[in-house]
This record gives sequence, structure tokens and C-alpha cells, in this order.
Amino acid sequence: MVSSRLPGFYNLSIQERLNFITEHVRLTQEECDILKGALGLDVQRAEQMIENTVGLYALPLGIAANFIVNGREVLVPMVIEEPSVVAGASFAAKLARAGGGFTAVTDDPMMIGQIQLVEVADPWAARIEVLAHKAELLATVNEIDPVLIKAGGGARDIQARVLAQTATGPMLIIHLLYDVRDAMGANAVNTACEYLAPKLEAITGGKAFLRILSNLADQRLARARVSIPETALGFDTYSGVDVAKGIEQAWAFAAADSYRATTHNKGIMNGVDAVTLATGNDWRAVEAGAHAYAAREGHYAPLSTWRRDGLGNLVGTLEMPLALGTVGGNTRVHPTVRVALKILGVTTARELAGIVVSVGLAQNLAALRALATEGIQRGHMSLHARQVAIAKELPVNAVRSPAVG
Ligand code: MEV
Repeated sequence: MVSSRLPGFYNLSIQERLNFITEHVRLTQEECDILKGALGLDVQRAEQMIENTVGLYALPLGIAANFIVNGREVLVPMVIEEPSVVAGASFAAKLARAGGGFTAVTDDPMMIGQIQLVEVADPWAARIEVLAHKAELLATVNEIDPVLIKAGGGARDIQARVLAQTATGPMLIIHLLYDVRDAMGANAVNTACEYLAPKLEAITGGKAFLRILSNLADQRLARARVSIPETALGFDTYSGVDVAKGIEQAWAFAAADSYRATTHNKGIMNGVDAVTLATGNDWRAVEAGAHAYAAREGHYAPLSTWRRDGLGNLVGTLEMPLALGTVGGNTRVHPTVRVALKILGVTTARELAGIVVSVGLAQNLAALRALATEGIQRGHMSLHARQVAIAKELPVNAVRSPAVG
């Protein structure tokens, strides 16, 4: 693929940027018009998406440049209202190129569905009964969706947990592990849980109440790693080693303090959410999963790590649940989502998750680098000045912004 390195992209006009993208990913005129909003989502389609539709709500879509993920050059569409985010991701991705870009490793797209069984006479004995019927239960679930089975997905495991002491007494919780392939999977999992519930009632003698996916998708993790030569991190009066040390110190602060960890993770989610939104995915699900995962050790912690490796590199990692789909849901209905997926060049949900987790790590790097050196306000405020100019109806070009190319 052509390089995602787009020097000077920032200074182009919108039309020139579109021409650039068109050359890279061969967008049609219709797709350009969709991006510009002329042919995007209309109220008729919006009416198919939610209830009581009365209009539309638009947000900016920008392209983050410079990304290499698993050796592939990627242009990243980001939908976000906050200045500096797209610039920050592009800048950090440029730094990452000095170490070969991002390496992403993703799990199979395994979602968890939960079935809550109450009024079970002996939940511990019932738990064993359920596990004894595992093969039969998995086969039952796999009757539901032949298309998913053909695509290589389907039910993989049944787990049973007793919650001995809840506010309303003991309950038996069944987990269905369901490989949903390229879907986000909420519908598939919920259907499977509802289908399974009467069978579980028959086995346990209990009553099934909730039958719903868990957004703590910790069997569907995405991980990214980046290693940047410290020499590439220096700028102005800051040496590369000082910047690397500062980023490590910033991470150590987050690892020791939940107040800081929350903001640290917010910076990660700036990147994660923007691509999640651009690709029509459920960002509330991603947010819920991310923060629950961040608290999995019993205290809220940063999702990423930043360490110097002693060999002259700063190494960053990010691991988080990412329940993202490239089929179903909005991917079919929203025209801009289709174009965003085309720009990304992804077909599978795992590829998409690999890019999203890399953007999260890049965003985190951009924020920590700024915080550990000149402070966040310098870049932020020059971009903010553009918004003030717009609000005052001044020409935006009169306000300079930081270069990112
Ligand atoms: C602002 O949207 C995000 C940051 O606060 C993240 C951070 O502090 O790491 C800059």
C-alpha cells in the first residue's frame, strides 16, 4: 500500500485532502460526497436507526496520518469534536514509525453472554449438572445461526459460576462464550442467551431472569505495542532521554493513583472512541468494557504501560477489551461508516480492533509527551483559538495551528 505518511496534509484545503485520500484508497465521487456530508446519513435512514427521529447531529471526521499497524500503512478516520486529538494521533504515529510502527495482537472475537438463574434449590449441584450437559448445550446454540457457523464462529464454551451471597440470595450464573466473527455480537449473543435459557431452566430446576451479553469482553482483548528509539523523542530543548523519562514518570503516576489513571485512560479513549464512532460501533460498550477492565485488579489502573527498556527505547503497551464489528449494525445503514471502513482497508473485526488499540496507544503517547514536556495547553490552545475564531466569525486561517505532518 501507499505510505500513510502525509507530510503537509495539515496545511491542505479540505478538497486537497480528499484528493489525497482518493488517490490512496481510490474513493469514488459518491464516497467523497458522502464524506463531505452532501450524501451522508439522511433523516430517512436515521429513521431506521432509532425511534422518534427528528433530525441529524453532525460531527467532524478527520484522517489521522502516519500509522503503520502490523507492517501495514493505514489512514485512520476519526470522528471527534475535540481539537488536538487527530493531530496528536498523527504526530505520535509519526514518532512510532521510527521504531517500525505498532504491533497489534488480538484475540478471537469471543463475546460472553450471561444467563442468571435464580431459585435453584442447590446451585452448586446445578452448576455441575450444567457443565455435564455442556456439549449438548453448545450444540443447541449452534443450531441458531448457520451463517455464523459457516463463517467459522459459534458457541465455544459454557462456564457456570455460583454467586453465593447476593442481596436476594444465591444465584447460578451461566456464561456462554460465543465467537461472533466480524460482528460486534450483541444481537447474536442476546439471541443465543434467550434460546439457551429454557434449556438451562430444565436442567437446573431454576428460573432464568437476565439473558444478556457482558460488556466486560475480556475474552476479546486487543493489544498493541510500540517501541520508539529515545533519540526520536527529543525536541526543542528536551533531549530524547528526558522525554522518555518524563513519559515513564507520567505512567508511574497513573499506575499509583486512580485520579490520574482516569485521565490517562480518558486520553486513550480519545483515540479509541473516535475510530469506534467513525466505524459505526457502539462506543458505550467499548467504554464500559475498558473501564471495567482497568479496574480488574480491584483498583482503577492505567490501561497502558510505558517503560524504558534500557537499550535506548521507550516501549509502550496497551491491552483492553474491544468489541468491534465490521458487519451488521450501522455498518450497513450509515453511508459514512462504509467509507470509513474502506479508508481503513479492513474487512475483519480483528483487523479493526488491532488498528483501534494502536490509535489508543498513539493518543496516549501524544498526551503524555506533551504533559511531560511543554504541557498540554500549548498545542491545545492554538487549536482552541481556531474555535474561538469560528465563534467570533474571524477567518480561521488567521490562526496558526501546530504542524503534525
Ligand atoms: C484530554 O482530552 C486528554 C488528556 O487529559 C489525557 C491525559 O491527561 O493523559 C490530555
